[in-house]
Amino acid sequence: MFRWRSPRLTALRRTPAAKHLLPLLFCPHQVGPCEVSTPPLHAPFSTRIVGDEPVLVRDFIRSALYDPKHGYFSQRSGSVGVLESSIKFNKLEGRKDYIKQLDKIYRQSDISWFTPVELFKPWYAHGIAEAIMRTANFSVPLKIYEIGGGSGTCAKGIMDYMKLNAPERVYNSMTYISVEISPSLAKIQRETVGEVLSHSSKFRVECRDATDRSGWGDCQEQPCWVIMLEVLDNLPHDLIYAENQISPWMEVWIEKQNDRETLTELYKPLEDPLIKNCLEIMNSANKQASPSSVRLIADTLWSKIFPRPRRCWLPTGCLKLLEVVHDALPKMSLIASDFSYLPDVRIPGERAPLVSTKKDGRSSDYNSYLDAKVCNS
Ligand SMILES: C[S@@+](CC[C@H](N)C(=O)[O-])C[C@H]1O[C@@H](n2cnc3c(N)ncnc32)[C@H](O)[C@@H]1O
Repeated sequence: MFRWRSPRLTALRRTPAAKHLLPLLFCPHQVGPCEVSTPPLHAPFSTRIVGDEPVLVRDFIRSALYDPKHGYFSQRSGSVGVLESSIKFNKLEGRKDYIKQLDKIYRQSDISWFTPVELFKPWYAHGIAEAIMRTANFSVPLKIYEIGGGSGTCAKGIMDYMKLNAPERVYNSMTYISVEISPSLAKIQRETVGEVLSHSSKFRVECRDATDRSGWGDCQEQPCWVIMLEVLDNLPHDLIYAENQISPWMEVWIEKQNDRETLTELYKPLEDPLIKNCLEIMNSANKQASPSSVRLIADTLWSKIFPRPRRCWLPTGCLKLLEVVHDALPKMSLIASDFSYLPDVRIPGERAPLVSTKKDGRSSDYNSYLDAKVCNS
């Protein structure tokens, strides 16, 4: 199976930040409240992420991905794969040929993953533009926000399509605002869209964190479109841990050990409001009838005889972004694409991320998120 070569699975890699990692095993074992757990991990670069105070897992991931100096997405090249030329789909003879072509692309490039908007360019962006054209209310000027626009391929594709297919007044009065956290990707987006001169006056990049409500200013009552492609699943996640099947969830923090080179997990009682809120939403989605008292006794006994620690990843970054955008743009129409399934994940826990690296044209996956190395700048 071309696990990393299928467009769908490729973009699934939720933590592409972990492109440069150390292969280390991770075996969670039982700990009590606030005890330090997990085997020590020697990760000389990731230790830079954690200072003297412990940090929540989401802050560790945010730093690994978006730190302006060392974060994965702050690298100028390669953080979002860009195809040099579009795939000629009309020359392909079916799925087998497509898979062969993808295989060739991945072998030739040092990029770990390409997203659908890149692999299917320009058609993917044109499809989104056509969907907007069919449903937008053109009595008001068209306003599109794209969050996490990567290399600008989607923005350019949509604007190209509008220029060719929308009524002239719609194209002339449209605005396309990209909200991008990475300064290097923001620059690439300006270059990509700037290839068409007439797009430039309609396009701007706001280089900021879209999850920060203050960056959006006052609430905007006008209708608009918000596009997020492969963004929600890349946002920082939190991790919660329970000692066994019935013990309460604890929030996971990361701290540096005295040797300054080892990162370990630290468990604290649930207090963080974002984690609590996210857990409540996830629980209400999977609400089952409360277990009977017989069932509770059986579970308690079972957890004493065969205690099994539990780990669960929570999409706290996604929750925060959706809340902020909903508050700032209450009349938005949202177009988001992401993945509902990850293949062969090695990192333990429910909804765990896939952490991978690529060397000499081959991908490999890792066992611990704590190994994420930040870039040497
Ligand atoms: C996996 S890339 C996807 C890029 C592009 N949408 C695509 O499909 O090719 C994630 C993008 O989201 C951006 N991003 C992540 N978190 C963000 C945030 N909080 N605010 C704004 N942009 C963010 C990244 O810098 C990057 O451009």
